[in-house]
Amino acid sequence: MSDTTGYPDLDALLPRLDAVPALSADALEAEHTAILGRKSGALTAALKSLATLPVEERKRYGAAVNQLKARFETAFAARAAALAEERRRREAAGVDRTMPGRRRWVGAEHPVTRVVDEIVGIFRELGFAVATGPEVETEWFNFLALNFPPDHPAMDMHDTLYLDAPPAEGEPGGKLLLRTHTSPVQIRTLLASPPPVRVVIPGLVYRNDAMDASHLPAFSQIEGLAVDEGISFVDLKATLNHFAYRFFSPGTRTRFRPSFFPFTEPSAEMDVECQLCHGSGCPACKSTGWMEILGCGMVHPAVLENCNLDSEKYTGWAFGMGPHRIALLRFGVPDIRLLLGGDMRFLEAVGRPGGMGEEGKDG
Ligand code: PHE
Repeated sequence: MSDTTGYPDLDALLPRLDAVPALSADALEAEHTAILGRKSGALTAALKSLATLPVEERKRYGAAVNQLKARFETAFAARAAALAEERRRREAAGVDRTMPGRRRWVGAEHPVTRVVDEIVGIFRELGFAVATGPEVETEWFNFLALNFPPDHPAMDMHDTLYLDAPPAEGEPGGKLLLRTHTSPVQIRTLLASPPPVRVVIPGLVYRNDAMDASHLPAFSQIEGLAVDEGISFVDLKATLNHFAYRFFSPGTRTRFRPSFFPFTEPSAEMDVECQLCHGSGCPACKSTGWMEILGCGMVHPAVLENCNLDSEKYTGWAFGMGPHRIALLRFGVPDIRLLLGGDMRFLEAVGRPGGMGEEGKDG
């Protein structure tokens, strides 16, 4: 606060003068005391130092001090008036400044989105690419190319949602429908790119099902497909076991039960040990100790031939799983409808990393 001549440096106060119009009420009062206060104000001290100066110097410096003092007084008064006006307007508008503020909304990923991303991520690490396909399909892609016989009950109006609109001009494949599974993208992928093929296919599928605790008319699936020379059931089991280790936990027990799909042979359903009771039996697994997570099998030779591939040369395996159902297992959610409900308490609890249901899951 002193320059070389030994009395307070007035220029050093200019930035503080500039800052006055932005001061809060409390800061304004403190600054007023610091600059003009009778005991220790910076300008008060400067005025006191005048007595010690030679006459000429006293005149020059005294005029500068008084001028600066006037500018501070004007600035302080203007800021005080502005604050008073602000306060008056707030009060007129009925704003209660003692009311706690609203916390900013922090969004969370939807639990199904998390599950899909995680599953896709695990297969990406294994070299699988991601493919997608249309939700409006033709009978050919959804059923016939996948080796469903033309009279298969799944093609019935009762199970499948057909569209009234006719297929686009020149588009082969019969009636249009909302795809009932992601498997038609197997066909699209194999027609578009020759083996080796390794893809996962996330997407929504539609069925004429009534909504209940475990069914939705629209739900997610993730399809997997690997086609190459020399692929066997060993590859299928090893890859899907690895998936269970990564997604649930290392050492998770799995089992494969024989099953049937028109587009795989042999076919299987894969169970993992119940994530709630770890095999001892509980209501969630209907006392079996197991939970079904996916259908799978070796790609049927007829499917390869329908995609113009030599089924003597190429083999492959495929799976399909439902991330909505898997989210129920993963987060211990009792009713699939909760995933559609938009109840923020539920979505916040399971939607964010570190939320409920993360115990016992590593990685
Ligand atoms: N598409 C079958 C379903 O929706 C699942 C599946 C896919 C089974 C791939 C085997 C192979 O139920």
